[in-house]
Amino acid sequence: MKSAVRSKPKPHANFEDEYRSSFDEYAGGGGELALGRAYELGRRALNEHKSLVEIASLHHETVLAMVRDAKSEKRTEELIQAGSEFLAECLSPYEMAHRGFQDAVKALRQLNETLEEEIKRIAYAVHDEAGQLLVAVHLALSEMALDLPQPQQGQVTRIRELLNEVEKHLRRYSHELRPTILDDLGWVPAIRFLADGVSKRANIPIRIEASFSGRLPGAIETTLYRIVQEALTNAVKHAEAKNLWIRAWKENLALCCSVRDDGVGFDPNQLQTSPHRKGLGLIAMQERVSAIGGTLRIESRPGNGTELSIRLPLEGNHANSHRTRG
Ligand SMILES: Nc1ncnc2c1ncn2[C@@H]1O[C@H](COP(=O)(O)OP(=O)(O)OP(=O)(O)O)[C@@H](O)[C@H]1O
Ligand SMILES: [Mg+2]
Repeated sequence: MKSAVRSKPKPHANFEDEYRSSFDEYAGGGGELALGRAYELGRRALNEHKSLVEIASLHHETVLAMVRDAKSEKRTEELIQAGSEFLAECLSPYEMAHRGFQDAVKALRQLNETLEEEIKRIAYAVHDEAGQLLVAVHLALSEMALDLPQPQQGQVTRIRELLNEVEKHLRRYSHELRPTILDDLGWVPAIRFLADGVSKRANIPIRIEASFSGRLPGAIETTLYRIVQEALTNAVKHAEAKNLWIRAWKENLALCCSVRDDGVGFDPNQLQTSPHRKGLGLIAMQERVSAIGGTLRIESRPGNGTELSIRLPLEGNHANSHRTRG
């Protein structure tokens, strides 16, 4: 963007008229001041959600009309030159917004990677450290039980059984939090493992249909795992569902996945406009999907169940190979 002296566009003037008169002024030798108006017009167009195609077509019409009236070839050349300068200045706010968007997506991706590392750390801490502490408690109880009379020994046995249950649950949760199976075998086996655990705990059948095998890019496997994990958690927590379905398939260089329940449903529009919204799950899902250039659609109506549809591009800058455990 050139450094131009900014002048304020007339308030409430019609955008198209303003564009024509500002370009007329610039092409007539209006200099930096008129160029500054091109920049302000670009900002206004951005705020009014005008598309690039709309601006390009308005620009084309404006320049064409003036070229038709041009008296000489030299004037035509001047108009075309002025036109490209004016358009470039007008589009510079779009360029800046686009760069800002790219930076935000990059930051979001880095944030997700940091989050994954943190989840991994917590999962290993739960698995290894809590597991070792439980072993120590087991040993201490065994020693203590040696000196106890028979009736109390029975109580200690009961406590040890409960500890075994705690250990089993901790192991299960730590594996679901960051399943090594996701790194080692990929998304489909990891989802089967997750769904199996959720289904048993919530007593809801979960049917899985995956029409592809083999590995996906690492970022896709992690993103999809986290989304399905949150979708299952929501279905168990809010839906009162009797059945859950997970489907995944490849379509036109994209990976598609849907998670559906036959529960109570909700109104996604109402949720978006609610000032009392507290949950983060759906927002986090949307952010994860956006960070790798995908789309997320939620279809739900009160009384009619919920379906989440995810589409993630398989080609692009995240198509790195799979990550390894560690
Ligand atoms: N499958 C579903 N069935 C019915 N309602 C749902 C379903 N999924 C989400 N909702 C509704 O959408 C709201 C927002 O979901 P979201 O996952 O963002 O937040 P949360 O689950 O309430 O909290 P958090 O995910 O932060 O623990 C929920 O509170 C619930 O009212
Ligand atoms: Mg949730």
